[in-house]
Amino acid sequence: FTSKMLRDVPAEKTRQLTVQMMQNPQILAALQERLDGLNGSPSGYIESLPKVVKRRVNALKNLQVKCAHIEAKFYEEVHELERKYAALYQPLFDKRSDIVKAAYEPTDEECEWKADEEEELTVSKQEEMKEKAKLEEEKKDEEKEDPKGIPEFWLTVFKNVDLLSDMLQEHDEPILKHLQDIKVKFSDPGQPMSFTLEFHFEPNEFFTNAMLTKTYKMRSEPDENDPFSFDGPEIMCCTGCTIDWTKGKNVTLKTIKKKQKHKGRGTVRTVTKTVPNDSFFNFFTPPEVPENGELDEDSEAVLAADFEIGHFIRERIVPRAVLYFTGEAIEDDDDDTEVTVYCVQEGEEEADEENDPDYDPKVRPSLTTHIHTL
Ligand SMILES: *[C@@H]1O[C@H](CO)[C@@H](O)[C@H](O)[C@H]1NC(C)=O
Ligand SMILES: *[C@@H]1O[C@H](CO)[C@@H](O)[C@H](O)[C@H]1NC(C)=O
Repeated sequence: FTSKMLRDVPAEKTRQLTVQMMQNPQILAALQERLDGLNGSPSGYIESLPKVVKRRVNALKNLQVKCAHIEAKFYEEVHELERKYAALYQPLFDKRSDIVKAAYEPTDEECEWKADEEEELTVSKQEEMKEKAKLEEEKKDEEKEDPKGIPEFWLTVFKNVDLLSDMLQEHDEPILKHLQDIKVKFSDPGQPMSFTLEFHFEPNEFFTNAMLTKTYKMRSEPDENDPFSFDGPEIMCCTGCTIDWTKGKNVTLKTIKKKQKHKGRGTVRTVTKTVPNDSFFNFFTPPEVPENGELDEDSEAVLAADFEIGHFIRERIVPRAVLYFTGEAIEDDDDDTEVTVYCVQEGEEEADEENDPDYDPKVRPSLTTHIHTL
């Protein structure tokens, strides 16, 4: 958006909106992008400056490049800090995992949860009682089945998040029921910046791996050719892992029957071919970024989506999985969208959302990682 968009709004409103917008990192990022876009757009003003002044402007730009390099260092330290704090979160995530997979039964005290004050109140006490009775009933049923831990915890999370459920195929679901934990591991100090998502599975009939991994390599370095575009670390490429499918369980493959006509004889025969099948598990065989960085359009689209998903799992899903399981985190995200709506009133908004590969109301740009736009 441009300042022009604010002009038609009364001053007080403008001020409020501006404050609101400046507090929203997503909008700040968008604004930055627009400003970047102004780079080199001939306003005529700069050209009209006396030579001696233009010369000094160049000096300022050189200072700006130096700033970008210091900023890169700043983000490296942020990464260090994140690693340090990851170690503090880990025992809690481990306990979460233990509860989910029934390795640990939480105590009564640990299970006490005070419901939201707003939610209680009168709405209808009766209904509540009925609900309670019903729940009691269901509980008895459950006790017969004796569920272990929290069944289908991660599968439910996947289903609740559009970004992930879009990848999910029906045949993936029975497999993801065996997913017991997702962990984020950061690269060691002194190593090139990266993070790995570890998907931990219980023993299952589909593959023999206990863990599937996906590693995202990042770069926190201003691009020499375009230093002013630097805006923190970017994901540059990713690598998956080999899945050791048991025979006949490879859901990323399907066999199709094809009719083949013999050119000379005109006879028709049916051949079976194996072709790739849609599946979440293709996530573990992402397209490779070749040395020269050239990618075909399809791979580019796959990778752009992949980076976004990897980033989202790391930034949002793993830290607050339970809220995606219950759906609470998803409602929060809707609130964010409302703020965004304000500042895109000028009719361009649709094009903007679609054209901006970073745009996703559910992804709050983090301090530390940006999704590399290929
Ligand atoms: C391929 O995908 C289809 C539906 O998308 C699914 O029904 C089928 O089970 C898959 N094939 C294999 C071999 O898993
Ligand atoms: C499973 O299918 C993928 C293609 O989608 C293939 O690359 C891989 O080798 C297959 N794995 C096994 C064990 O058959």
